Amino acid sequence: MTDTNIPCHIAIILDGNGRWAKKRGLPRTAGHARGAETFRKIATYCKNIGVEYLTVYAFSSENWKRPPEEVKTIMKLLDNYLHEAIDTMERDHIKMKVLGDVEGLSPELQALVAKTDEISTRYDGFQANICLNYGGRAEIVNAAKRYAEDLASGKVTELDEKIFGNYMYSAEIPDPDLLIRPGGEQRISNFLLWQCAYSEFYFTDILWPDFTPDELDKAIAEFNRRDRRFGGAK
Ligand code: FPP
Repeated sequence: MTDTNIPCHIAIILDGNGRWAKKRGLPRTAGHARGAETFRKIATYCKNIGVEYLTVYAFSSENWKRPPEEVKTIMKLLDNYLHEAIDTMERDHIKMKVLGDVEGLSPELQALVAKTDEISTRYDGFQANICLNYGGRAEIVNAAKRYAEDLASGKVTELDEKIFGNYMYSAEIPDPDLLIRPGGEQRISNFLLWQCAYSEFYFTDILWPDFTPDELDKAIAEFNRRDRRFGGAK
C-alpha cells in the first residue's frame, strides 16, 4: 500500500451476515457472531494502516422489527464487544463512540456507552464509531429539535452547515471519505445521510463475514482511482 492515500474516515454498512449463515445451513445468529469477529479484524487493520475513524452500521432503528431471538443475539454481541472495547481502549489509547438513540438501548448497554464516552475523553488516537439504534433521518430530526431548543433559549442565533453539523451524533467527527457496502445491495439504507454528501461509495458482493483486509485494500485502491472534486470543476 505504498504511495496510497489512506482515507481518514471509512464507513461500512455491515451487510450479509444472515446470507452467510444460510449458505452454511447455520442460524442467522451465527452470521452475526462471525460478523462481529470480522469487525474486530477490520478495525485492527484500519488502525494499523493509519485510518483515523472507522464507523460501522451495526443496528438500525428499523432492525428492532427482526425476530426477538435475533435482536437478543445482536445486543449480546454488542454488549460483549463494548466490554472488551473498554479494555482495548485503555491499552491502545483509542476512542470509541456509539452513534444513535442511546436512550432506546437497555440500561446495561447505556452504562457501557457512558463508560466508553468517559474513556474516550482521555485519548486522541484511532476512533471506532458504532451506529446503534441509528437512523439517518431520525438523526437529522433530532438535530433540528435540539437546534430549535437552543435557538429558543438564545444559546445560538446563527445557522449554517457547520453549526447544524454540531447537533448531529457525529459532531466533531469528519465526514466519511469512503463508504463501503458489502453484501451485494447498492443502497444507503438510512445511514449517515447528512455526512455522506461527498463520500465515495464502494459496493462489493462479498458478504460481511467474508470481508478481509485484502478486500479493504481493494476498496482503498479504488478510492485512490477516484477524482474527488467536491462539486468543483475538473
Ligand atoms: C446485517 O446483515 C447485519 C446486522 C443487522 C447486524 C450487524 C451486527 C453485528 C455484526 C454484531 C455486532 C457488531 C459489532 C460492531 C461488534 P443481515 O442480517 O441483514 O444480512 P442479510 O442481508 O444477509 O440477511
